[in-house]
Amino acid sequence: MLITVVTLFPEMFPGPLTYSLLGKKLGTLWNLKIVNIRDFSDNIWHKVDDTPYGGGAGMVLKPNIVHDSLSYALSLYNGSNPTIVYMTPRGQVFNSNIAKKIVNNEGIIILCGRYEGIDQRVIDFWKTNHNLVEISIGDYVLFGGEIPAMVLIETCLRFIPGIMHNSESVMDESFAIDLLEYPQYTKPAIWCGNSVPSVLLSGNHLEIAKWRTEQSKQITKALRPDLWKKYLELHSDNGG
Ligand code: ADE
Repeated sequence: MLITVVTLFPEMFPGPLTYSLLGKKLGTLWNLKIVNIRDFSDNIWHKVDDTPYGGGAGMVLKPNIVHDSLSYALSLYNGSNPTIVYMTPRGQVFNSNIAKKIVNNEGIIILCGRYEGIDQRVIDFWKTNHNLVEISIGDYVLFGGEIPAMVLIETCLRFIPGIMHNSESVMDESFAIDLLEYPQYTKPAIWCGNSVPSVLLSGNHLEIAKWRTEQSKQITKALRPDLWKKYLELHSDNGG
């Protein structure tokens, strides 16, 4: 799986993505390429932006430069069809269902915006001709799309077979089944006078599974009533 990030700040990558399981699998299960938008500048000063038509503060990335950067990124896929994502606070708010849709055997290209924005014509062109999707990681505005891109990459890669130690664990975790995770405990069995719930020491796997599911339900109901409502809607046929 090839992921290509199109950015003005290539030195921010791979950054945190080199740590832990993702880092270990970088170069085998997934690859990362970085395209520096500045390399596609059309002038000797390496400028990539200009003032906005109509006036206003800030600078806007020029359409031809972003277009050439994206076209180069796409050429790295040898004719296959990666998902093309533009990180922007205007996009659909990201969640694990969207991550599952973005994960694509043919790869992902992620365009990171900066400054006041990108000329709308290039966004429209890539939406119409290459199904570009706009994604936000939440209702707040960051300086650019690089950190959001890292959030998206880490979330998506967790859905790729072989990334997790235990291929089942991603399905078991928060949000994969619309419930929050049950509490976890490890040794010692008694800490600060508090014992581990006895069912976990029973060795009865059926009872443990039932207890965990029930805990997940209670925690979701208490902490995230919105997720609990969705869960009930999805599982209304089996009584939740
Ligand atoms: N760029 C700036 N803020 C962002 C956000 N919240 N999500 C995605 N990209 C962004």
